[in-house]
Amino acid sequence: MTDAPTTPADDARNESVETALAKLDLDAKTRLLAGQDQWSLPEMPEIELPSLVMSDGPVGVRGVRWTPEDPSVALPSPTALAASWDPELARRAGRLLAQEARRKGVHVLLAPTVNLHRSPLGGRHFESYSEDPYLTGEIGTGYVRGVQDGGVGTTVKHFVANDAETDRFTVNNVVAPRTLRELYLAPFEAIVKNARPWGVMAAYNTVNGSSMTEHRYLQQTVLRGEWGFDGFIVSDWLAARSTVGDILGGLDVAMPGPRTVYGEQLAAAVRAGEVAESAVDGAVRNVLRLAARVGILPGAPAVVTEPPAPVDGEALTREIARRSFVLVRNEARDGHPALPIGTARTPRIALIGASARDARILGGGSATVFPAAVVTPLDGLTAALPEGSLTYTIGADPNTELALAAEGFDLRATARSADGRVLATVELPNGRVQWVGSDLPDGVSYDDLDSVEITGTFTARDTGDHAFGTRGLGGFTLAVDGEVLFDGYQDRGESSDPFEAFFGAQTERGRVRLAAGQSVDISLRDTVYKITDAPMKAIGFSLLHLGPQHDPDELIAEAALAAAAADTVVVVVGTTERVESEGFDRKDLRLPGRQDDLVRAVAAANPYTVVVVNSGSPVEMPWREDVAAVLLSWFPGQQGGAALAEVLLGAEEPGGRLPTTWPVALADAPVTDTTPTDGELHYEEGVFIGYRAWEKAGSVPAYPFGHGLGYTEWGYETLDATPTEVRVRLRNAGARPGREVVQLYAVPGTGQDPAAPERPARWLAGFASVEAAPGETVEVSVPLRRRAFEIWDEGTDSWSLIEGRYEIQAAHSLTDVRLSAPLTVER
Ligand code: BGC
Repeated sequence: MTDAPTTPADDARNESVETALAKLDLDAKTRLLAGQDQWSLPEMPEIELPSLVMSDGPVGVRGVRWTPEDPSVALPSPTALAASWDPELARRAGRLLAQEARRKGVHVLLAPTVNLHRSPLGGRHFESYSEDPYLTGEIGTGYVRGVQDGGVGTTVKHFVANDAETDRFTVNNVVAPRTLRELYLAPFEAIVKNARPWGVMAAYNTVNGSSMTEHRYLQQTVLRGEWGFDGFIVSDWLAARSTVGDILGGLDVAMPGPRTVYGEQLAAAVRAGEVAESAVDGAVRNVLRLAARVGILPGAPAVVTEPPAPVDGEALTREIARRSFVLVRNEARDGHPALPIGTARTPRIALIGASARDARILGGGSATVFPAAVVTPLDGLTAALPEGSLTYTIGADPNTELALAAEGFDLRATARSADGRVLATVELPNGRVQWVGSDLPDGVSYDDLDSVEITGTFTARDTGDHAFGTRGLGGFTLAVDGEVLFDGYQDRGESSDPFEAFFGAQTERGRVRLAAGQSVDISLRDTVYKITDAPMKAIGFSLLHLGPQHDPDELIAEAALAAAAADTVVVVVGTTERVESEGFDRKDLRLPGRQDDLVRAVAAANPYTVVVVNSGSPVEMPWREDVAAVLLSWFPGQQGGAALAEVLLGAEEPGGRLPTTWPVALADAPVTDTTPTDGELHYEEGVFIGYRAWEKAGSVPAYPFGHGLGYTEWGYETLDATPTEVRVRLRNAGARPGREVVQLYAVPGTGQDPAAPERPARWLAGFASVEAAPGETVEVSVPLRRRAFEIWDEGTDSWSLIEGRYEIQAAHSLTDVRLSAPLTVER
């Protein structure tokens, strides 16, 4: 067991916790362990404790409402943050998020997500960091420290093995102990020990037969017992399913409310003798300690009394974006680098791609926030280039299905009672009305609410037939420009899913021909369907739209013409919300629509074609060797387009290195199936995921782990390795200042116990970044942890040092090793 050192402030907090606990009776205590609504715990007047508020996470702080009226700073996707390979940058991101949380009255941020990239199909791949547990743990540690520096709690999630989305509520992930310890638990362990998070979120899934919220061994023995975790454990939303099993398994708080398995049901279980009251007290202590830490338990000192200096959110999101962009290829057919674009030499630039104009700045699902403003690649390049030098063509439209009304819409929702009284009017960021639990507009109650009407205007961007549709349940009346397109009822049909209203099928209701620039009034009235069989009350329906569908061949031909007329072409390709989002896994890694054809046609028309890939996780790039440069921009956050202009035009260097291997094709990836069989998903590959698996199989990916080019060159000069520290000296051998991520890999050598279980050929043992001016030499010292040379011994259920000779490699990437040195590890 790890005993974290206690400070006088810890003692004072613990004392206040005991005093408060003694004042609560059983009913109050069990109420405190259950959400009162979607995002908060009930206040406890008897101890003057206000309601504790939680919010997603991880790229921004949404606050308790899904509305644009209180916008949130939107950071680049977690994959992007990890691509910076910079825990200090993650810490600064965390501080910004704490500032946002404080502004929005949020005490606990539901982040970071530290599950691993087991398969590129994982729907929330974009929302987690890496395929490597050490890199994940380091970035997560920085992030948690940063958020908590600002006095705001975190919940490291989703504990554990929630690495895919298919059947996530029910899947039993079967994972061997060594695999769990060395891979999936490792980031949680590192973060718990190094950053002391105030919370952990228990995952939906089951691990080795026990649901995670009930998993006594992992939650109590490992997390609390072995690692010394002293924060609170909250269920993922709706994950808690057993009153007795959950409390005995170590789950402290069941979210969301008001209907949970805790509260009255927990009090009844204590009264029936099924649960000892001391178990409830233990959970309440954990919640009260959290309240004390965030500064809302009267009499207890908050951990942070002076929040850190204010952070400029816009500047930091831009900095993280450019530090995350990974330049994976930079070689035109003439052998010269295509980037940065020399505008003096190549003044005419053609920008192509739907994602250049409608940038995808973040992934879908609970991680969604609404920023005040977004800089798209088109905005960013237009602002940075002299007037008249940039042309734009769409090239290919990946949106071929109805989607949430957004671009060109200006909408609000009016809630009315049955007698037509207006209860409230609120602005909408898009065509979705989603009011869950107590997250209703001020003045609206479920009992009074009868209908919601979305009204506003739509300004067409393109000439042609615009399709409009609905998603959700109830009586709909849809009118565009005064004409009623649909008036009818949508019922639930055969579906038993209480969330059908949110996630149900989208239905086209009619088409209207509009000219580019034409503005029309639009309204969609829904006599709401009140979901009664869900754990909380909810209203949800959407207005959908699909723009005119142009002949894809014509769009590509038009783009090829624009490309031929330019000196340099920038094509932005990307995924859509229907590809990368929470709630489902990907089916393939292809770019949606005709985007691959587009890139091929453009590259054939212009040898200086730079492709920017706007996706949160790997996509297949069959054309990658035929273009001059490929820059991965991830989901780059609200300032993505500005950062992109800085990097493409050379004001800044792309700083990212791959946190995950990019396969040539899905079939080459180590794990290509995330669908459980008979409810079970077996992690059969054991410790071999990511680059560990690629090296074992001897196969070659499109771009290896750690890969990423900058705008300067680095000469690695010396390497000195001891079992506890590695020193590397390197020189910026190029013509401009730069930053290098020095990666250290450990290679097991001869003389080691031949009976030891199979280990990967190499693994990441440490890393650090350096900055240097042209010609400057810098030295970096990287500590080595004993854990880098240990394996989990399933026989003794403990870590075991594998003694003997190793080689330490100092590398620019997994496949670009610059220096190596021997090392002998002894007990
Ligand atoms: C997600 C969590 C999230 C929670 C609250 C769940 O569906 O898995 O990551 O924090 O919802 O929005």
